[in-house]
Amino acid sequence: MLGNFTYHNPTKLYFGKDALDGLNEELKKYGKNVLLVYGGGSIKKNGIYDKVVKILTDNGKKIYEDAGVMPNPTSDKLKEGVERARKAKADLILAVGGGSVCDYAKAVSVSVNCKEDPWEKYYIRFEEPTCKIVPVGCVLTMVGTGSEMNGGSVITNHAQKLKIGHVFGEEVFPKFSILNPEYTYTLPKYQMIAGIYDIMCHILEQYFSGEDDNTSDYIMEGLLHSLIASANVAVKNPLDYEARSNIMWTATWALNTLVAKGKTTDWMVHMIGQAVGAYTDATHGMTLSAVSMPYYRHIAPYGLKKFVRYAVNVWGVNPAGKSDEVIAEEGLKAMESWMNGIGLVMNLKDLGVTPEMVEGIADATLTMDGGYKVLTHEEIVDIVNKSL
Ligand code: NZQ
Ligand code: ZN
Repeated sequence: MLGNFTYHNPTKLYFGKDALDGLNEELKKYGKNVLLVYGGGSIKKNGIYDKVVKILTDNGKKIYEDAGVMPNPTSDKLKEGVERARKAKADLILAVGGGSVCDYAKAVSVSVNCKEDPWEKYYIRFEEPTCKIVPVGCVLTMVGTGSEMNGGSVITNHAQKLKIGHVFGEEVFPKFSILNPEYTYTLPKYQMIAGIYDIMCHILEQYFSGEDDNTSDYIMEGLLHSLIASANVAVKNPLDYEARSNIMWTATWALNTLVAKGKTTDWMVHMIGQAVGAYTDATHGMTLSAVSMPYYRHIAPYGLKKFVRYAVNVWGVNPAGKSDEVIAEEGLKAMESWMNGIGLVMNLKDLGVTPEMVEGIADATLTMDGGYKVLTHEEIVDIVNKSL
């Protein structure tokens, strides 16, 4: 059954080869001071930095820079960003990069005018912002997280060995996001496929929950078909515009709140993956691929009907004459073989996890209750061990 909900997404999107032109329009809405936030330098190598700076300059903006946002941005870097944004008296925070840069920009935006320690307030106590939020805009260069059209912001605290996401409300969503699929062409293959699996996992986290067979489930199956077909093309030809644009658009819809409406959602692969990230600093999408198969095989018996539907509708398993258990496992086998085929990391050893870390990873895993089975500590340990 489709539950009750309110739906509104405030982010304005500009999509396509000319999307960056939209920045001229957007900049008119904000004051002079722009904090330009970016990562480790890919945007300087591929020319996106120069294009953005030209538009900012042409529009009379004063640019303050906050570079060096690392993948899996840290609470220490966040403190530095807050100081920079305060000094700049930023009227707009412009994030140019992937999910890490966008997530970080949101974290800075809710902290600039807040006296408390942002890590404690937002990531430990999960409080909502009570201070004035500085608007954020994004120019996306890496596809996967959906951060361009949602309120998610994930921060890592290495000292505490915790990687935590806060899903903020609409007031923290980017005001606008610029999505040019060509900007993703320079991504290393490892990042491209990690992003592809992040998208798949976002969809599955919302698909494998509840008893539902509603519109959201049909939309998600459509998104999965587009993603699988486009990924198969993109791994062979990364410069295929149609494939890259389909992947980019699917990523946005996989996690911009639409398909979660009226449903319960799971998110346990992400919770385990984030704990792995806290211990290893590994690439987000790969932490998910490495734990997914043991997780799904563990919960399939508790949500068997949905796993059967998944096998038949997404992976084309022929159900004739087979038990539900056999159909579900054939679907998971097809998924596993596809994951192997596109080159995803399928075990935690390859990400640097050692047997000594397993208990700590299980301890750092937040337990959610929206999936088919609320996991006990022992079950998490078992899944992590099976993922090794
Ligand atoms: O730092 P630079 O030099 O830019 O290099 C980046 C980085 O090394 C590189 N890159 C990005 N665009 C590129 C490029 N290299 C060449 N050409 C380009 N066009 O890619 C590397 C990874 O970037 P990153 O932003 O870390 O990747 P992603 O977009 O996967 O973001 C991961 C972060 O987002 C969080 C993750 O936990 C992780 O911290 N998530 C955010 C979510 C949300 N907001 O809702 C949900 C997700 O589940 C996820 O948890
Ligand atoms: Zn994710």
